[in-house]
Amino acid sequence: MKGNTWLLLFSIACAISAKIYAEFWPGINQTLVVLGFFRKPEDLVNTAGEVVAIPDTRHCEDLHYHASSGLLFTACEDKAETRFGWFPPLANFDNPELALKSRGSIHVINAVTLESQRLEFENFNGPFLTHGIDVIDDIERPGGVYIFAVNHLPNLKSSQSEGSPKAKSQIELFYHVIGSPNIRHVRSILDPLITTPNDIFASSPTSFYVTNDHLYREHGLKRTIEELYERARWSTVINVRLGSLEDSVADATTGVYATVALRGLHNNNGLAHGRSPQEILISSPTSGMLHIGEVPLDAATSGGNITIIESMPFDSVVDNPSYFSDPFTQSSADDHSGFVLAGVTHAKDLAKNVRDPTAKDPVRVFFVKAAPRGADHPWEKHVMFEDDGSRIRSASAAVLVAIDPEAESKGGVSVKGTRKATLFVTGFWSSNVIAVKVDL
Ligand SMILES: *[C@@H]1O[C@H](CO)[C@@H](O)[C@H](O)[C@H]1NC(C)=O
Ligand SMILES: *[C@@H]1O[C@H](CO)[C@@H](O)[C@H](O)[C@H]1NC(C)=O
Repeated sequence: MKGNTWLLLFSIACAISAKIYAEFWPGINQTLVVLGFFRKPEDLVNTAGEVVAIPDTRHCEDLHYHASSGLLFTACEDKAETRFGWFPPLANFDNPELALKSRGSIHVINAVTLESQRLEFENFNGPFLTHGIDVIDDIERPGGVYIFAVNHLPNLKSSQSEGSPKAKSQIELFYHVIGSPNIRHVRSILDPLITTPNDIFASSPTSFYVTNDHLYREHGLKRTIEELYERARWSTVINVRLGSLEDSVADATTGVYATVALRGLHNNNGLAHGRSPQEILISSPTSGMLHIGEVPLDAATSGGNITIIESMPFDSVVDNPSYFSDPFTQSSADDHSGFVLAGVTHAKDLAKNVRDPTAKDPVRVFFVKAAPRGADHPWEKHVMFEDDGSRIRSASAAVLVAIDPEAESKGGVSVKGTRKATLFVTGFWSSNVIAVKVDL
């Protein structure tokens, strides 16, 4: 070949490489940034402030604040052997026998006294492998709440037939009367569309949304691509409707009507209620995104699909979101409401640490408020809390509970005009839920 033919081929090769680079690199770079590949450990600052570790709250993945009772609800795995021996969300299926014998727990935590109370199951003896939950009021009987909880049961058939999934995850629906020491099991919910359930958004006792965080359940190239490549948008949100709750159902599949409510998000994971009954918050941890969407007012008649309105990027993992509604607002200038997002900063190490009860997984909690009118960006984001993993290992959920400015100033410490809240942070591998006082 002549010299100029080589030159032509070389130019074409360069153009193709540049095109591929321009096409793929920004997304790949963003993922590497979010997962912490470029972060040095010293980038993390321990936030000052006394951190209280709440006793008897081990490995509680999710956390919800129930404002009218002043209680936080959480589902805890309780034992390190179970969490490090069986955790389908991180593709750990080591010990199904142990999982079958394990029963996690639902706790309520008093947001003021910081006492945790383990609720006694009245009629539930099954294995309970905990993950995301949601809590909604019983509007027919004030004082009652429905609690939906993911349960990652092992699939007993997996030992028999090759290729069947190792987990047979389902949803448990419980009922609790605020102030009572007990929790009653209403029913189990199983459907072929619920495959890798992570978190729940309940619209009513008979209608809820659940995320499937992955398409691929086990370690391997496909799951790695699914996690690292932002355009591998293979996760789903499922809308589930239940027939009447009146009849006690023996079978978990009875009266369950499920449809796909949303496709096309990358690695959708945590769900939360937002600023209005219709607003749904959806996180995409490995791409560092918070999506704000809307559910229809009446899922039963409109099909229940979710519409995404806005997406907000972060430079590290954001797991279960929550919305803090400031109860002490006096004017829009004094409104401290916002989104709270917790996550691990070195997600690249999770696969390595999945069987290690002693490792540290550093955390970060973001707080996002509406920016003042006229600002360049609609949102103001800041890091509210950070830890290198020594006070809390891993973070998957955080909620804020406002401190009454009157009570605070009586202590004589508060400067007039400053507003404070208690920040609660929990993690799927944390030994305790922690509480720390923060400025809003
Ligand atoms: C990767 O992304 C980060 C954060 O968005 C940015 O600061 C950095 O310049 C990017 N690096 C490259 C090589 O594109
Ligand atoms: C709802 O969303 C799913 C998944 O994206 C889609 O297949 C279905 O057609 C949608 N249904 C309606 C009524 O828009």
